[in-house]
Amino acid sequence: MPGSTLLSLTLLAVSSVVRADYFSTDPLADKVVPYASIPYQVMTDKDDPRGFQSGYNICNSTTENQDSKCQTMFVNHIDDFCLWAPATPNSTIADTEGDEVAWCSKKGHGTRIIPAGAITSIQLIQTPSYIQIAGTLNQAYLNIGGVDGGELDSGGQDGEGNPMGGLVYTNAFAASNGDNGTYIQAQHWSFFIGNNAFCGKICDQSKPNPQGLCNNVYDRLGCEYNAPANVAPGTFEACKGDDMLPVGVYVGTDGQTSTYHQPAETVAIDYNNLPYTPTPAPTSSCVPYQSSVIFADGAAVTPAAGNDVSGAGASAAPTASGSGSVPAGAATGGAKTTGGAGAKTTGSAAASGSGAKPSTTGTGGAAAFGVSVGAVLLGFISVLAAL
Ligand SMILES: *[C@@H]1O[C@H](CO)[C@@H](O)[C@H](O)[C@H]1NC(C)=O
Ligand SMILES: *[C@@H]1O[C@H](CO)[C@@H](O)[C@H](O)[C@H]1NC(C)=O
Ligand SMILES: *[C@@H]1O[C@H](CO)[C@@H](O)[C@H](O)[C@H]1NC(C)=O
Repeated sequence: MPGSTLLSLTLLAVSSVVRADYFSTDPLADKVVPYASIPYQVMTDKDDPRGFQSGYNICNSTTENQDSKCQTMFVNHIDDFCLWAPATPNSTIADTEGDEVAWCSKKGHGTRIIPAGAITSIQLIQTPSYIQIAGTLNQAYLNIGGVDGGELDSGGQDGEGNPMGGLVYTNAFAASNGDNGTYIQAQHWSFFIGNNAFCGKICDQSKPNPQGLCNNVYDRLGCEYNAPANVAPGTFEACKGDDMLPVGVYVGTDGQTSTYHQPAETVAIDYNNLPYTPTPAPTSSCVPYQSSVIFADGAAVTPAAGNDVSGAGASAAPTASGSGSVPAGAATGGAKTTGGAGAKTTGSAAASGSGAKPSTTGTGGAAAFGVSVGAVLLGFISVLAAL
């Protein structure tokens, strides 16, 4: 596993979010949905003020195109995984979190296909209790515009999930017994995407603490805290790994195990003085892959018109320019790939190492804070408190 710790975080607090005083009586994370009995739409509540599921869960060859509204996704293997991203070009996660659709690396799931060149690095870690992915991307290839990023998870402010009605499966949990055709539902999952970085974790419900390991209440702490990883620029690898501590739990310098509680959204977080900095859990048996192999199905797919992809190709795929350490330039370059203002904010904040750097985005009165935590690469984010 070359490179050093590359995660930094950029945090985004959205002050204008109006949270409905509503919580589902039949929350998504409680629904047990065997793969063989997926309904057209898994959401059942019709009275949610936030609206209703915008896509569908039955996905097949007729829904497999770049307009797909499939909201059933998979994290199977490094060459067979999906991300949640917007259905329409140049959208922010904050504006579309309830409506994201599945974008997959491979054909066969009835979804949109991730265009080749979108993902610029990835590390997949399979642990006893979950599968984690983390990496960098040209987010404009997946219809993501602006500076906003956010958390997508099986909770959501009203229990319906983000996207509402999103379902996640894998053939890589122990219960599949190595049979790629046996899909197991992950009831607890969380993904973060934005600032040209992504991460996600899907938890095995049959293991001791799926809710804690895939906790979705740390939405303001981004990838570094929710899915700690070592992702080297320009690399694509799959590893085994140990379980991390549940999100928010840490062993302090005093040797005591403590839990950090993210404050209410109205309360500022002093990112320079968080009580701990996560250390990625040990990994082993890492196997490198070629992106051209992973994204072979995406070779024929081009990003949709209406996205700011022009600058992306040129500075894409931050290369590990010849050194073991992560040059600040790599972080900056990676962050600049969309050409979006927010991405640059992340890059400069990360590169400067000077702590929080507030800037204001155009949407929703959100304030983005670039924070340097050690070396850098995955600028990150979060948005809406997802209880
Ligand atoms: C394919 O998926 C669509 C959308 O969910 C659904 O309406 C259709 O019935 C499915 N077709 C088959 C043959 O299952
Ligand atoms: C199962 O999927 C993995 C990952 O995509 C692949 O490497 C493996 O060959 C597949 N196994 C079979 C039996 O097809
Ligand atoms: C994307 O959206 C931003 C903000 O609305 C806008 O300034 C920009 O021109 C859009 N880009 C494209 C390619 O439409």
